[in-house]
Amino acid sequence: MQPKKIIIDTDPGQDDAVAILLALASPAEIDLLGITCVAGNVPLDLTTRNARIVCELAGETDVKIYAGCDRPLGRDLVTAEHVHGKTGLDGPDLPEPTMSLQDGHAVDFIIEQLREYAPGTVTLCPLGPLTNIATAFEKAPDIVPRVAKIVLMGGGYFEGGNITPAAEFNIYVDPQAADIVFRSGAPIVVMPLDVTHKALVTKSRNDAFRDLGTPVGIAVAQMTDFFERFDKEKYGSEGAPLHDPCVTAYLINPDLFTGRHINVEIETQSELTMGMTVADWWRVSGREPNATFMGDIDADGFFDLLTERLVRL
Ligand code: BDR
Ligand code: CA
Repeated sequence: MQPKKIIIDTDPGQDDAVAILLALASPAEIDLLGITCVAGNVPLDLTTRNARIVCELAGETDVKIYAGCDRPLGRDLVTAEHVHGKTGLDGPDLPEPTMSLQDGHAVDFIIEQLREYAPGTVTLCPLGPLTNIATAFEKAPDIVPRVAKIVLMGGGYFEGGNITPAAEFNIYVDPQAADIVFRSGAPIVVMPLDVTHKALVTKSRNDAFRDLGTPVGIAVAQMTDFFERFDKEKYGSEGAPLHDPCVTAYLINPDLFTGRHINVEIETQSELTMGMTVADWWRVSGREPNATFMGDIDADGFFDLLTERLVRL
């Protein structure tokens, strides 16, 4: 089978970094057309820096990396240094990047790629706020029916929110953009907190990364060492949830995940529940399904895949 052509849209972020590394380690399944950066966990100048650091860590300096939107569509930017540290990629001591960003805007790159390749062949993989994707859809509506699939990390339903009681960070930061994407008609697969909070980096799983003994394995272990302190304190869990790699793992082995094709709508009005993903899990609304909302993960299979792949870099 041909590898899937994908664009990773991201705000790295330690877990974004692991998602990117998993994609780079899997060329038989994934053809990474480029990485588009957005403001989210940290401001845009840092997410573009971090994306380049991650590619250089993997020795993949030919990856095309673009800067995108530096703020949400209609709100002030909310960032998450309290989780990811001042740089967004705190933990390992990695060199400043030397590879350059591509000229041009991330949004234009997304539009160009979707127009260049045959309809139904390019998958979008958003790992941060949906600002770049929504802006591309608004600017060039002709690309929407050309999207093969959008596989995104965002939202939560049974698990509630992580930035407010009702909302998950990526959707909360730009609910207007999320609303545009969820109403777009493009096929969507969602990795919500309901799934990612089951993908916990326990001590033995992190030791397995470290024991790879490679620069990538050691850096990944140091990244999760850093951001697990936050989730352990907050949830009393065994380790940090590895949210974003669920997206790239799904592209490699969708059977690791189970979910339901249901209607998902985004709250954009109420300050109390702003950014909530109202997921009709029990199919009580009568509204048309617009997304496959995942609910469960084979966590051991997921971590086996990660360690098996990361050692290749
Ligand atoms: C999401 O928010 C970010 O902090 C993570 O990188 C992930 O994409 C989890 O809510
Ligand atoms: Ca992210």
